[in-house]
Amino acid sequence: MSKDTLPESHDSHGTEVAAHGDPFADPGLPAHEPRRTDIDERAAKRAERQVSLLFILSMLSTVGFIASFVIFPIDKIVYIFPIGHVSALNFSLGLTLGVALFCIGAGAVHWARTLMSDHELPAERHAIEADDEVRADVIEQFKTGAAESGFGRRKMIRNTLIGSMALVPLSGVVLLRDLGPLPEDKLEHTGWKEATKAKPIQLINMNTNEPMKPEDIVVGSLSFAKPEGLEEDSHEFQVQIAKDALMLIRIAPEDIKDKESRDKGFEGILAYSKICTHVGCPISLYEQQTHHALCPCHQSTFDLADGARVIFGPAGHPLPQLKITVDEKGYLVATGDFDEPVGPSYWERSR
Ligand code: FES
Repeated sequence: MSKDTLPESHDSHGTEVAAHGDPFADPGLPAHEPRRTDIDERAAKRAERQVSLLFILSMLSTVGFIASFVIFPIDKIVYIFPIGHVSALNFSLGLTLGVALFCIGAGAVHWARTLMSDHELPAERHAIEADDEVRADVIEQFKTGAAESGFGRRKMIRNTLIGSMALVPLSGVVLLRDLGPLPEDKLEHTGWKEATKAKPIQLINMNTNEPMKPEDIVVGSLSFAKPEGLEEDSHEFQVQIAKDALMLIRIAPEDIKDKESRDKGFEGILAYSKICTHVGCPISLYEQQTHHALCPCHQSTFDLADGARVIFGPAGHPLPQLKITVDEKGYLVATGDFDEPVGPSYWERSR
């Protein structure tokens, strides 16, 4: 350090000032103050019981978490002040898991603050690579720390901590239940599967909720449809519409390049699944000049005049097409299901 930066030994009037010694001297540690639990064995015992109680509460909460899965049906709604109406299952799972984790954390903090050694230990900086002597010293310090923490000596804390830590992962095991039941063949079919030639299902306009006629759909337009009987206020609506939603377009028949696709339509009206075959976003952008439909999520583009072939983007399949015709009253109807699964690919998909 330059002498210029050190304090001067004379003040501005030339009077000698007292020597300051080392201006950066280590002030040392303040005197150690023992805690109540260091000097009062009853207070230490009380703290030990409090820590154990927190770990026991954690165990009980984990058991409550598991019990919630068994007790509460998935659709049970309850009123809880001041939150309002909530799913009893979700509320109970969140509460019990939160309490279980909180109690482990609070118990550990309380243990450290009241019972573990709180002696300040200054440590000098040293080279990063430790020699054998330092390593032996670290191991010795670790053993001393373990002994001072009381982990071996305070058996009640140790056992309840091990119990609570061992139980908490069971919450994750129980959550695996939500992976089931297996979907079986549900992914292969949609709500249109009930349609037959003898008992067709009408296409219902999703905006007007009315059955659709060919004359309602002009060339260049885009409309959306759902199967007759699927009501928006039904419990299953969101699940079903995610598979059943249709995108209806009308193209001049001579502009339809794919013959099979033209045959599945009615007078140029084509009904494609609205669910993108990439990861299942609803498609809603249609360019009438090019007959391209664009998925807003990752820009997969399908040529609806050519069997909904993928012409751009990450989608792996064309959009499935639903065969449509008209019933005796002139309404558009489906007479069967899509001939392949709608939406994204999945592991067991056979087509
Ligand atoms: S979901 Fe349609 S492109 Fe990704």
